[in-house]
Amino acid sequence: MRNIVYQVYPKSFQDTNGDGIGDLRGVIEKLDYIASLHADTIWLCPIFASPMVDNGYDISDYKAIAPEFGTMADLEELIAKAKTRGIGILLDLVLNHTSDRHAWFQEALRDQASPYREYYIFRKGQNGAPPNNWRSNFGGSAWEQDTATGEYYLHTFAKEQPDLNWENPKLRKELCDMICWWLEKGVAGFRIDAISFIKKDLNFPSLPPDASDGLANPGSHWLVHEGIGTFLAQLCDEAFRPYGAYTVAEANGLCADQLPEFIGENGYFSAAFDFSYTDIDLAGGDWHTLHPINRKTLRDAIFASQEAVCRTGHGAVYLENHDQNRSPNKYLQPQEICRESITMLGVLYFFLQGTAFVYQGQELGACNFPWQRMEQFNDVSTHDQYARAVSAGFTPERAFAIVAHRSRDNARIPMAWTAETNGGFSACAPWLPADGVLPCPQQAQTAQVQDGENTSVLHFYREMGALRAGRYANLFYEGTFEPLTCESSALFAYRRALAEDALVVVCNFSAQAQETVLPAGDILLCNVPCTPHHSGGRIVLAPFQALVLAE
Ligand code: NOJ
Ligand code: CA
Repeated sequence: MRNIVYQVYPKSFQDTNGDGIGDLRGVIEKLDYIASLHADTIWLCPIFASPMVDNGYDISDYKAIAPEFGTMADLEELIAKAKTRGIGILLDLVLNHTSDRHAWFQEALRDQASPYREYYIFRKGQNGAPPNNWRSNFGGSAWEQDTATGEYYLHTFAKEQPDLNWENPKLRKELCDMICWWLEKGVAGFRIDAISFIKKDLNFPSLPPDASDGLANPGSHWLVHEGIGTFLAQLCDEAFRPYGAYTVAEANGLCADQLPEFIGENGYFSAAFDFSYTDIDLAGGDWHTLHPINRKTLRDAIFASQEAVCRTGHGAVYLENHDQNRSPNKYLQPQEICRESITMLGVLYFFLQGTAFVYQGQELGACNFPWQRMEQFNDVSTHDQYARAVSAGFTPERAFAIVAHRSRDNARIPMAWTAETNGGFSACAPWLPADGVLPCPQQAQTAQVQDGENTSVLHFYREMGALRAGRYANLFYEGTFEPLTCESSALFAYRRALAEDALVVVCNFSAQAQETVLPAGDILLCNVPCTPHHSGGRIVLAPFQALVLAE
């Protein structure tokens, strides 16, 4: 059972050699901090050799460590030291694409007759144009021309991230061998990147344009495309299952009736992330069409997701990751952001069924960064979203405001450890301009300050971790989930049960006091001062109060 996973974005976690870039030794230094949150697992975002066009999601060597992050010896030390604290390491497996600097792709470009040409997806163009009008996830055509031959290669993401050709059995075998090699090194498993995209519609049809650029989102022509199961079954049978690896898939595009095949008892993965509630503001898929979040829609999405997962397997519940903006800014109005509302959001998702993920800084209540200009952003996709918003007719000011709110770089700002220069993250200027400002000056305080205050967000996350990891660990991981109906639409409530035990979780998602009825029981956790026992019947919940009660 993986109960609590702490996600580390190594580049922004802790720099130990003063180059402004977080590194593996930084993660080793902070192992006790991570253990204090009761995490039993760390998900490390990619640490492999990479030119870092997409911060490591463009791998140039699957078996080498990026020098800016450290060495293989550092990783081995991290695996060993984490293990002594009962913590397993998940690596981030990027299997849909490599970097264009990977030796396979370089060889494919150098020699059209090379077997490595078949490791990628090359096609002839049409009348001087790409093979079709598919749009890449990072904007522009999904095809880039290989100038030496005139052919085009497919890239679901940036042009520096050519897609691998999963139709090729040699490539599949090579990837399976590489995964086994890592499992032999003692990693506990993997978070698996963009795995829904590995199977393409080999007819590569052009599609009706869906925007003024004449391009179209290929949708199911490359997302969970028919036949993907054969590839996934091989990965599972030849690599994951023999080692009992824990695997959590970034598998967007799954519908509820596909869950058994993906995460059921004999599914390909241990769990899969669901985007239905974390991308709820994206509705149309684009940042520049952001939708306000309606509380009822949010609750329905979270609860529907849980009910579907519980019928099938185990969830991978999360509020934040390195691709999301900070949750207080996403789910709360600016005037609502405070310690109580931030911890309420924590309670809301943390006790759902399955494994709970915490993204670095979330436990400090970190908020979005106060961006001032486009040049401050590093993220390739943020720059694309800005350009697309402007070409869709938004003023530069409005386009900037949109990306400042939704940019992935909000989550990538270096950790605020102490009040020293650069938040104690690094002795020199960090890779992402943070101007030495804490992520959320009004609400978040450094980890050092929060460590010493028993009313801090950090302290509350430790309490949540202790509760989830304690005697109710099995209940939280695999107990039943039942949504509870309350009179007020501001209340999110659910019941978790396993054998003789039952817990009720209630969150007041509003700045007003709310009344409801609760069964009698001990209050195991509460984010505001409250009595340790409720004798049953009516209770008035303070603004943003959240509690867990044992029936
Ligand atoms: C999903 C990752 O989480 C994201 O950061 C990355 O840009 C894309 N996949 C491409 O690998
Ligand atoms: Ca460093």
